[in-house]
Amino acid sequence: AMARRPIVGGNWKCNPESMAKLDGLVENMNACDASKCDIYVCPSPLHVAYVCSKVKAGINVCPQNCNFKGCGAYTGEVAVEQMKDLKIEWVLIGHSERREYFKESNELLAEKMKLILDSGMKCVYAIGEKLPEREKGLESTMAVCIEQLEMVKGLLDPAKVVIAYEPVWAIGTGVTATAAQAQETHAEIRKWIAKNVSEKCAAGIRIQYGGSANAKNAPELSACPDIDGFLVGGASLKPEFKDIVDAIS
Ligand code: G3P
Repeated sequence: AMARRPIVGGNWKCNPESMAKLDGLVENMNACDASKCDIYVCPSPLHVAYVCSKVKAGINVCPQNCNFKGCGAYTGEVAVEQMKDLKIEWVLIGHSERREYFKESNELLAEKMKLILDSGMKCVYAIGEKLPEREKGLESTMAVCIEQLEMVKGLLDPAKVVIAYEPVWAIGTGVTATAAQAQETHAEIRKWIAKNVSEKCAAGIRIQYGGSANAKNAPELSACPDIDGFLVGGASLKPEFKDIVDAIS
């Protein structure tokens, strides 16, 4: 993680259930020290504009998804132009929940990433294997990650793209990847990028870990050389989020 600036994101997913609870969650974010790492928060779409108006400088709002095209006849979607109008700089795409429940494919996600980057925005791109692949070992784990990276490899730019490695079996389960497991996979992803994009890209691109990250496991995970921060789900809905930020070494 040496030369790379750490980055920590809080993904609120489809939470909270009321506006009344939003200020408290924003407060958790605003309590964070944004001087030693990049911080972003992913509110649910209906709450994005409100959160933009409430976060302090240094806390970036990063919607959880975007349309694959610009404004227009795309019912139910949110376009990057609308985000830019709110001064939003980041978008998260490829979360396993989007892939699983909304059937987002690698092709679609590559289209979205291109649109995001072409519009001058930055992108957090989530990847990760499911339990059966992990159980078969590192090779089948990597096969999935590679498949998810293959179509965006021409777009990977350390200044504009962050990879969030989130093993699906670790998401919301309380089962965190061990530091050794996460480090090994992050290193393999970086090696693949070195070979298939460039050494420079591999050295510069940030790879966050996601999956039951919390204040307790964050110090050991963030001490790993290839782990550049976290994408936090559950714990981003608690004051604990600040402790995860503080744990970044
Ligand atoms: O995007 C973050 C996420 O999927 C991890 O969720 O609840 O396991 O921290 P959680």
